[in-house]
Formats: sequence, C-alpha cells, structure tokens
Amino acid sequence: MKAVLCKEHGLPETLVIEDVASPEPGEGQVLLEIHAAAVNFPDVLIIQNLYQFKPDLPFSPGGEVSGRVAKVGPGVKQVKVGDRVIGSCGWGGYAEEIVLDEAKLLPIPDSMDYVTASAFLMTYGTSHHALKNRAEIQPGETLLVLGAAGGVGLAAVELGKAMGARVIAAASTEEKVATAKAHGADDGFVYPTGSLDRAQQKAMSEKIKELTGGKGADVIYDPVGGDYAEPALRAIAWKGRYLVVGFAAGDIPKIPLNLTLLKGCQIVGVFWGAFTTVERAAHEENLAELMSMFAAGTIKPHVSKTYALEDAATALNDMAARRVQGKVVLNVR
Ligand SMILES: NC(=O)c1ccc[n+]([C@@H]2O[C@H](COP(=O)([O-])OP(=O)(O)OC[C@H]3O[C@@H](n4cnc5c(N)ncnc54)[C@H](OP(=O)(O)O)[C@@H]3O)[C@@H](O)[C@H]2O)c1
Repeated sequence: MKAVLCKEHGLPETLVIEDVASPEPGEGQVLLEIHAAAVNFPDVLIIQNLYQFKPDLPFSPGGEVSGRVAKVGPGVKQVKVGDRVIGSCGWGGYAEEIVLDEAKLLPIPDSMDYVTASAFLMTYGTSHHALKNRAEIQPGETLLVLGAAGGVGLAAVELGKAMGARVIAAASTEEKVATAKAHGADDGFVYPTGSLDRAQQKAMSEKIKELTGGKGADVIYDPVGGDYAEPALRAIAWKGRYLVVGFAAGDIPKIPLNLTLLKGCQIVGVFWGAFTTVERAAHEENLAELMSMFAAGTIKPHVSKTYALEDAATALNDMAARRVQGKVVLNVR
C-alpha cells in the first residue's frame, strides 16, 4: 500500500511517497481501507517536530481519516468488515491503509460521504467542546472568531450561531470574511497580515469594540495567536471568556495578566484531544449532538478542495500559506 512518509523532520517538501507493507490488525484492532484523510494544521506542525505529539520516524502524518473496515483482529466487538467509519489516529492517516483500535472508530451516518466524514470530527469536535464546555456560551452573547474561515474557525462560526450567539468573524481577507458570513456570521472585519504594529493592534481592538456597541466580545475563539491575541483580549467584555485554541500564526502570545483583572475575564485553555479521553462520557454526548446537528443541516462542513494522496505536500503548503478556506482533504481512493 502507498503511504506518505515523513522520514526526516522538515517542511512538506521533505515528505516522500512509498510502497510499504500492509499492517496487520492485532487484538481489538481493525485494518481500515482509507478513502479520505483530512488535512489539519497539526499535520503541518507534526512533520516539523513542532507539535505536542512526536511520533518516531518514519511516520505518516494525518490525524483523522474515513474509510471502510477491511479486516478485524481478534476480540473486536463493535465493528465488522464493510462498516464505514471515521478514524481518529493522531498520525498515520496519509496512507491507503491504517490499523486502529476499535475504540478510535465512529460509525459514519448514511447521509455523510467519505470526504465530509474525514473532515468532520476534529474541527467540529474542538469548536463544540470549546464553546459549550469551556466558554459555556449563552444565547444572545457575542462571539468573536479569529481565523474565522479556517477549519476550526468556520466550525466555531456555525456552532456559535447554532448556540444562539451573535457571531463576528475576523480573518485576513475580504473573501474569507465573506465565507464566514455565508456560514452564518452576522458581521466581520479584515485584520492585517504580517506583524502588527501598535497602531494596527489598537485599530483591531477599536474595531471589535465598534462592532459590539462598545461592550466588547463576550467570548473570543482564538486558533491563531501571534499578534492578534492581545488586541482581541483588550476588546473582551466584562466577564468574557478568551478561548486559547491554537497558534496558527506561529508565536505563542505572552499576555499581560493585568488585562484579566481589568476585564474580570477568564483565559480558558481548550485541548479537545485530551477531553475525548479524560471526559469520555461528555465527549460521547457531544458527538451525539454534533451528529444530530449534521442530520438537521444546522452544520454544513465546507470542504473547499480535495487533493490526491501524491499531492499531500501541496495541500500542507497551501494550509501553511493561509490559502485554505474551510477544510481540505486528501481523496485517497
Ligand atoms: N486546541 C485544540 O484542541 C485544537 C484542535 C484542533 C486544532 N487546533 C489548532 O487550531 C489551529 C487552527 O487549526 P486548523 O486546522 O483550523 O487550521 P487552518 O484551517 O489552517 O486555520 C488556521 C487559520 O489561522 C489563520 N492564520 C493566521 N496566521 C497564519 C499563518 N501564519 N499560517 C497559517 N494560518 C494562519 C488563517 O486565517 P487568516 O488568514 O484569516 O488569518 C487560517 O485560516 C492550529 O494551531 C491547530 O493546531 C487546536
């Protein structure tokens, strides 16, 4: 079977595609014939050894896949050959096959195709957990989403609306803001790219205040970090919740703590991967809610482009260069 391999840490160009032996499922495991593999920002980081998980070399990137169960190992109880499933793997997904514990699988509803299924769980799971469990967002509150046309950002826009919030989308281009509005955002603005000087940071805070009638945003969803975090936090409402989701801009912001005192606000960490194992029951409740929102058409995953497995490096470079909107997926078969 073909697999995209990271044999040395580096940029996407260092990835190679090779034929490797098919893996064999062990006790409690299944062999999955992969149909689609989502491209997520952590894939860009993991191949450079910049992510919190550091697999041994060589490995395939790709944290979530969809496919068909091709073989089951001894002791497998929940799934059978032929089942269509989503697989959460962390890495190993940019390949034609993968072996996974059956606990890492979720059935795909009949109305969901493989491409959508591969791109569903991490983005909606993260944003749902963030808004529901971490921010405890309330109907009528204002939600500001940074990187609002990205993977987790666009999911936050849709889920924020579904939870009754007024959503403001912030992104680096008019086109991205328009995409977020097409997915439900009530308002939006463009922020500058590159490092932001003091005047640009001040202008960003003022813009958020202007769009919230001077009150500031009740909840801020931040998957971007860098120079955008502090001006956003300076425009948070009294008792606001600032969700730390990721650092796509590269730099981890260092925030003056007095801002939390002045705003009576909370800075709240979000780690969906840990939540899925540490709080299993709450995660399963969330999954059921997300699947019913999908069935009802309340959330509509936006896959803007698919690539062949051979073009994995191009997909990762597009993501790293901010050229991606919504989700992009490797169409493996
Ligand atoms: N905490 C968790 O549990 C969790 C779970 C999943 C993902 N994450 C994190 O969330 C972040 C976003 O992931 P994603 O898969 O949604 O990525 P994505 O689709 O690439 O979205 C990230 C957004 O960040 C913005 N951005 C700003 N500066 C950037 C830069 N220098 N390079 C690339 N993007 C930049 C881009 O929007 P603009 O161009 O509009 O600024 C882009 O749309 C990542 O840091 C990821 O590790 C965290």
